[in-house]
Amino acid sequence: MPATTDQRIDALLSLLAENSTIVISGATIAKEIGVTRQQVWRWIEKLRTLGVKVKGHPHTGYHIERTPDILAPQMLSHRLYGTPFARRIHHFFKIDSTNTVAMHMAEQGEPHGALVLAEEQTGGRGRAGRSWVSEKSAGIYCTILLRPAIPPAHAPLLTLVAGLAARDAAAEELDGAPDIRWPNDLLVGGKKFAGILTEMHAEPDRIHYAVVGIGINVNQARMPGELADIATSLKIQTKKAHSRFELLIRLLRHFDRYYNQFLSDGAQPIVRRFAEVSSYFRGKHVRITTATETFTGTTAGLETSGVLRVSRDDGRGTELVLSGDVAEAD
Ligand code: BTN
Repeated sequence: MPATTDQRIDALLSLLAENSTIVISGATIAKEIGVTRQQVWRWIEKLRTLGVKVKGHPHTGYHIERTPDILAPQMLSHRLYGTPFARRIHHFFKIDSTNTVAMHMAEQGEPHGALVLAEEQTGGRGRAGRSWVSEKSAGIYCTILLRPAIPPAHAPLLTLVAGLAARDAAAEELDGAPDIRWPNDLLVGGKKFAGILTEMHAEPDRIHYAVVGIGINVNQARMPGELADIATSLKIQTKKAHSRFELLIRLLRHFDRYYNQFLSDGAQPIVRRFAEVSSYFRGKHVRITTATETFTGTTAGLETSGVLRVSRDDGRGTELVLSGDVAEAD
């Protein structure tokens, strides 16, 4: 497995960002993070290669010109205080997939609430075996490791919880609130800008762990190739850059809120909230593609397990859709 971002780089980044209004001496930095002044210089060089603008002032020290929008664990951890996500934040500059790494860590005993974050994914995975294009530092690529004491049949609710959290977090960045296409695609202007991939290791009566992978297109200037017709980013929509750091904090705080609500009050409030914010909940004419068939019908709400009810056009009654692709039909 690749190494996580060096904790000293993380500490250096936090120190510079927290002192962004002053010039901080190499000696002070060296003392604070426990390295030599020569090493400080080398780490600063490393940060520069990562796109962080650090100005060196002869004889006085260093000064960060702009707080970088890097998902640095130490700074995130301060802001996530009081949530289960503050303690175990694993940040990578480049990995294949945060979900794959999170599953590997789960197998090694990593606890509930651990986060895996990447600036770039080389093998980002989407639902149904598709890939998730993960341009460097443009999007949020985040996986939450959960060890929920719920039956595996309720696992689709975790995906809804994540979808609602991402929806609420993104709504604050957009003029109009995003739509959720069941189970978890976030849409704005009819195009997708976020998706969720939940994977789990379970026995019939118990979940060992679930990993909830959330991808949000934030600052992509354009979407590549044919994706441009169906996908977008917050920047493309609003014509301005957004802070991934702030968006991620809001996402995780909303996730914590919905997840606790789900654990304490069950599925009903989650399904009710989904009904409020998703145009796909009821009365939407859709084309459903499952592993075995494609059919059209009209959505008719959710079961409390999170499964979608669809009243079929072909008169064969109401179908319960556990998983599959949903598209708006004419
Ligand atoms: C989808 O809509 O198809 C789901 C996309 C999920 C993408 C995220 S990005 C972070 C996490 N790691 C992955 O490899 N996939 C998920």
